[in-house]
Amino acid sequence: MKVLVIGMGYVGTTLSLVLANEGHQVTGVDIDKQKIECLKNKHLYFYEPGLEQLLDKHLDNHSISFSTDVQTGIRDNEVIFVCVGTPQSEDGSPDLRYITATANEIGQSMNGYKLIIIKSTVPVGTNEMVSQWVEEAQVTPYPFDVVSNPEFLREGSALYDSLHPDRIVIGSTNENALQLVKSIFKDLHCPIVETTPRTAELIKYVSNSFLATKISFMNEIAKLCDSLGTNVNDIARGVGLDHRIGSHFLEAGIGYGGSCFPKDIKALLKTGAEQKVPLSILQSVENVNEQQYMYLMEKMLNRLGSLTNKSIAVFGLSFKPNTDDVREAPAFFIINYLLSKGVKINIHDPIVQLERFYSGYDIEQFDTAELAAAGTDAVILCTDWPHYMGVDWKSIQTTMNTPNLYDGRNMLNSKQMTDLGFYYEGVGYK
Ligand code: UDX
Repeated sequence: MKVLVIGMGYVGTTLSLVLANEGHQVTGVDIDKQKIECLKNKHLYFYEPGLEQLLDKHLDNHSISFSTDVQTGIRDNEVIFVCVGTPQSEDGSPDLRYITATANEIGQSMNGYKLIIIKSTVPVGTNEMVSQWVEEAQVTPYPFDVVSNPEFLREGSALYDSLHPDRIVIGSTNENALQLVKSIFKDLHCPIVETTPRTAELIKYVSNSFLATKISFMNEIAKLCDSLGTNVNDIARGVGLDHRIGSHFLEAGIGYGGSCFPKDIKALLKTGAEQKVPLSILQSVENVNEQQYMYLMEKMLNRLGSLTNKSIAVFGLSFKPNTDDVREAPAFFIINYLLSKGVKINIHDPIVQLERFYSGYDIEQFDTAELAAAGTDAVILCTDWPHYMGVDWKSIQTTMNTPNLYDGRNMLNSKQMTDLGFYYEGVGYK
């Protein structure tokens, strides 16, 4: 099948490559010339394991092409996936300007029937509005359908998640459109939830909100664990083996970040407020998360006494491992807090380059974790990159000014670290 994908962000790029891999003929378009040039040159402009190999393969066998010419893309393809961004606007609601612009462009450029599949995360009712916007922009009243098909992939495992989805959600008011979308994904064997566009839109927000709820719940329990002298990692295991609860997303730490959870939770809170249905549990989820990094900072303050003239190493910048995405990354809340206290900061991250973010501050990035830690008063581990399991903790312990180790992801073995001579603290784990 010939398919157009509009928006070459994480979701659109991954989807394009997966569709090409499933045997479809894909055109990926974006208004950002730089992104398109990068992709044409077989280069992924973000870090995501496995995707660059697919890009190479499908550019070589011509099953994928990239362009900035959105209008030609619309004219040449009957099936159009919309994967444009819906960033957070100032009032917490998603900014739909790219969705509106895309709907207008589709309406203006269409030359026959179009199946418009909305992958972008959009508030309930947006698919209906897209129909209206397309209709209003049409020069000739060609038929079209708008179908909601939210995306659930995670950064860092985007390819795996796309090839092995837990479910596919399709919200459609038209049976033929539903069948057409199903046929596109026919080789991905998983349950399909067929529903209305409004329900499909809400499923996406509720999924992310529920996952965030699990995290914030465990982050709160972690504080109780610290106070009772119990181990939150063991609690997570003991609780998570109950199939009704499930073992995922129970890892306590310095909180969730990323381009989705913080934004989507704000958006659902906004929807609740608009509907006059206060979502008090979700509000607490957000409150807990916003405070969580400070909990670790307070632990550190208790030990160091004051941060004046201190030097601290921060390990990990990205919001999670296997990505270079730093949006809403807890590491940056910690860095900003430390900078506000005049701390000298040494950084290490296996992938992310700090130069992009700071200049004129007492902050320096090092090539190795060992170099970053030397002479510091504390190490704060912010991202659970597997890389940090393999660093030379023994040598780090000996070269630090005072070997204090704050593990914001509970990823290291506290006994091993204590045996090496560290003062070790996690979150609900020591
Ligand atoms: C999330 C959803 O998982 C995905 O389905 C959706 O499509 C987009 O949003 P993503 O933001 O890529 O994906 O990352 P995810 O793996 O969900 O992690 C989000 C944040 O939660 C990270 O900062 C991670 O460190 C944190 N987290 C995750 C925890 O603190 N504890 C956990 O147990 C799990």
